[in-house]
Amino acid sequence: MTMVAGASRPPVNQVSVSTGERERQPSAPALPERAEERKSLDALLILSQITSTVSGLSELDTILRVGVQKTLEFIGGSFGGVMLLDESKQRLRYYVYQGLSAEFAQKIVVKSGEGVNGKVVSTGKAILLDDILEEPEALHGDLLKTEGLRSFISVPLRFREAVLGVLNCASPRPQHFTEKDMHLLHSIGDQLGLAIGHFRLHRKLQEKRERYRDVARQVITAQEKEKKRISQELHDETSQMLAALTLNLKTLSEMAKIIGLEDEKFLAMLGKAHTTAVQINNEVNRIISDLRPTLLDSLGFIPAIRHYAESSLLPLEINLQLDIMETPAPLSPEGEVNLFRWVQGVIGNIVQHSRARNVTISFKKKQDQLRLRIEDDGIGFDVSRIGQTNSKKRRHGLGLIIAKERMKLIGGDCSVQSQPGRGTTVTAVIPLI
Ligand SMILES: Nc1ncnc2c1ncn2[C@@H]1O[C@H](COP(=O)(O)OP(=O)(O)OP(=O)(O)O)[C@@H](O)[C@H]1O
Ligand SMILES: [Mg+2]
Repeated sequence: MTMVAGASRPPVNQVSVSTGERERQPSAPALPERAEERKSLDALLILSQITSTVSGLSELDTILRVGVQKTLEFIGGSFGGVMLLDESKQRLRYYVYQGLSAEFAQKIVVKSGEGVNGKVVSTGKAILLDDILEEPEALHGDLLKTEGLRSFISVPLRFREAVLGVLNCASPRPQHFTEKDMHLLHSIGDQLGLAIGHFRLHRKLQEKRERYRDVARQVITAQEKEKKRISQELHDETSQMLAALTLNLKTLSEMAKIIGLEDEKFLAMLGKAHTTAVQINNEVNRIISDLRPTLLDSLGFIPAIRHYAESSLLPLEINLQLDIMETPAPLSPEGEVNLFRWVQGVIGNIVQHSRARNVTISFKKKQDQLRLRIEDDGIGFDVSRIGQTNSKKRRHGLGLIIAKERMKLIGGDCSVQSQPGRGTTVTAVIPLI
């Protein structure tokens, strides 16, 4: 007997005939009570197994394979698979299958709305056929025959009003399906649809995050390049000229004394010009070392961190405790620059936001990892608000986001622990080369 199930949740006894032209067939003789009970129990068990697979596993392939396997167990079938709808082309193709030949699975491509599978997609309703070879709307009749398919079910895989694909199962013998079968198959289809929908949402989210990270990495790399260029120019041009100017002004002051110039105002102005030139030169040198950590080149990584921490925190009367290993860490030049920038960002935050009195910096090597921890006992903050807009509608949080991206860029990780009133600890862990 050929049977097509109509509505997605049809009330019992509303099973319709496939094309609407054939007469409704008399229902099959009822199963003996015990056998029917047994079948209902099996159905519940299968549904609960599929539900726990969907919630317990993250690999979509495995979830769908389990779904096919369990449905085959339920209908006593031996061929099955999941066809997914390519949204742009509106075509269904096999994604996973079992018992079907690879040749068959590759050849079957169905347009939405066409044939049995295409109808399931366009209507969102399951089709249960006692014998697909008897079904006039079935496509690829020859292939179905060669493959040996007879009884056939096709169930929509739905997610939020959309049909994402179909679950097909078949057996080599004609067989009768009931209303109860259809309800269970719809429930299985909904569970698998949920799994596909969530998998796709998760993938989209990951792609977005990856794109965002790419942009952050590009920004960091471009910034680093530009900072290097500006610092080089400041060092080679501006700083050299300022050094020459300072020297000339000093020489002029000394010459004025030697030739006995007594104009007090002139001498005072010359002295002031010399002091200003020295100050500008110092300021330019500070900018250069902020732009490019030259200390890294001249002193090495650890002294550079020590110097930066001391010169930033001690003038603010913040106690600094350093627990830093003295042996040089085998870091790549890129690793050193990014870690140094990370330290600058974290210490910059302590200076700007923390109101801390004590800061501890620890720097340790553990197996093949380097662990850098900066802890303050300041006012702390709510870490869930990193990257959000503050009450004055100013966008904050870029510093910590970039600090995290810097660590990812060199294969490491950065975590921030803080609570209002409980200080802040920022940790970076990076692999050693
Ligand atoms: N050590 C800290 N103590 C207290 N609050 C902190 C600390 N570090 C960060 N914060 C809080 O977290 C917010 C985000 O820090 P983040 O470095 O990401 O941005 P920012 O410092 O505000 O701006 P930017 O670094 O982009 O100039 C800060 O505005 C501050 O409120
Ligand atoms: Mg900051």
